[in-house]
Amino acid sequence: MDSIRYIAGKEPHPRERRMIFRNVDREGWDTRFATYVADGGYLELRKALAMKPAEVTAEVRTSGLRGRGGAGFPTGVKWTFIPPDNTKPVYLICNADESEPGTFKDRYILHQDPHQLLEGMAIAAYAVGARKAFIYIREEFPDAARILEEAIDEAVRENILGENILGTEFSLEIIVHRGAGAYICGEETGLIESLEGKRPYPRIKPPYFPAALGLWMCPTIVNNVETLCHVKHVIAMGGSEYAAVGTRNNSGTRILCVSGDVVKPGYYEIEVGRMTLGELIDDVCGGMRPGRALKAVIPGGSSSKVLRGDETFTIRTPDGASSGLALRDIPLDFDTLAACGSMAGSGGVIVIDDSRSISWVLNNINAFYAHESCGQCTPCREGALWMRKITDRVVEGRGTPTDIDTLLSIAGQIEGRTICAFGEACAWPTQSFIHKFRDELTGATSEDNAAKASNPEAVAQRRYLAEAAAAGSAR
Ligand SMILES: Cc1cc2nc3c(=O)[nH]c(=O)nc-3n(C[C@H](O)[C@H](O)[C@H](O)COP(=O)(O)O)c2cc1C
Ligand code: SF4
Repeated sequence: MDSIRYIAGKEPHPRERRMIFRNVDREGWDTRFATYVADGGYLELRKALAMKPAEVTAEVRTSGLRGRGGAGFPTGVKWTFIPPDNTKPVYLICNADESEPGTFKDRYILHQDPHQLLEGMAIAAYAVGARKAFIYIREEFPDAARILEEAIDEAVRENILGENILGTEFSLEIIVHRGAGAYICGEETGLIESLEGKRPYPRIKPPYFPAALGLWMCPTIVNNVETLCHVKHVIAMGGSEYAAVGTRNNSGTRILCVSGDVVKPGYYEIEVGRMTLGELIDDVCGGMRPGRALKAVIPGGSSSKVLRGDETFTIRTPDGASSGLALRDIPLDFDTLAACGSMAGSGGVIVIDDSRSISWVLNNINAFYAHESCGQCTPCREGALWMRKITDRVVEGRGTPTDIDTLLSIAGQIEGRTICAFGEACAWPTQSFIHKFRDELTGATSEDNAAKASNPEAVAQRRYLAEAAAAGSAR
């Protein structure tokens, strides 16, 4: 494949602040090493290599950078979890699985700006003491995998990667590893198992926190593509200056992927917390589709809890007082979305208008999770499939009113009872959709269906719910 890939220009929205996506869709930009270097590329790696590794980590801590892969964990803090007395090799893994539905940002970095990622990875590897790093990339991105491999070859030829980088004692090998296209390979311990050549069954935490017991039971730092790119900008600006971008405890920029019922869906890089959900939808994305009203938003990828369009949230202000916040007024940061009962997650904002049936939306999500459960834990394996079967029949008009309580009961038995957070990822949509749209979901069911002799499910469900209630009161 030719490494030169010219990209058609597309103007960013004036409300965007492009840091990570500065070169994405940039007129005349291409993926060559020479283009990247001519634009000031790899200066931050040189700067970092002149610092001590602990100083690099300290800058990242000061920056307040939080992971962009889903959990929003502080990156610099994660890096310090490598045991200080460690004598084993340390590994760095870039999570390029991008598997959360509604999320489509990492792929643009991989396709259009691979050297930015390599530079971020080289700085991160230097800071944590890794001499070998992996980019775990999902199978569906074959072009991106080839682009990365070409970029790595170029970087090795230019002594940016490989032995004694830029004449220093630091050496680093980066290996591109292609997955086989499974959601669970995005979960960091499932990813590690897959990288070891095994079935991607997530590991239980504790004890298998990757920073202590990761790849081949060695300390391993797993970070998202976007997170690793931010590291370069932290070094460029210095931790304190970076921390001033965005808002307190929610620093930097982040890429939001907006999909669903807006006029202009797409990716938008904004300063964290400096734009509200309403501004994103109405100004940046051109508003709802003509004649349509906002019904709901899933703010951080399919696993985050749904928010109603007409909801008012009670949140605590920093001085301890309570205040009411309408959905459109929610600032898009990690903490406010969590205070509103959802999460910023992976940045996938899914907008739902009043033409959508909630049972259809929930069924769509349930079908995904039923398909993607790795099958290791019984509540998740059985429960995800069971929830999908129930919403299947609600959508087909064969649901009964007891279906709603059965769904809640199943979700409640998955949440908190599984090896990995997939359990919550598949339980939260069901729980939150029922919590927020119970009337509509119940309205999609019918007592007549329950009364039909041909419906053994209804009889079984009533027995199951009665037994579950009796067991609950006996406990
Ligand atoms: C089911 C599941 C799927 C996940 N998928 C991804 C993914 O595709 N990409 C990603 O970066 N993180 C994903 N994560 C989060 C990772 O486990 C991990 O927290 C993340 O890669 C850490 O990077 P960060 O600290 O830079 O966010 C997933 C987590 C779960 C529970
Ligand atoms: S919660 Fe689900 S996806 Fe995670 S380990 Fe258990 S079965 Fe696998």
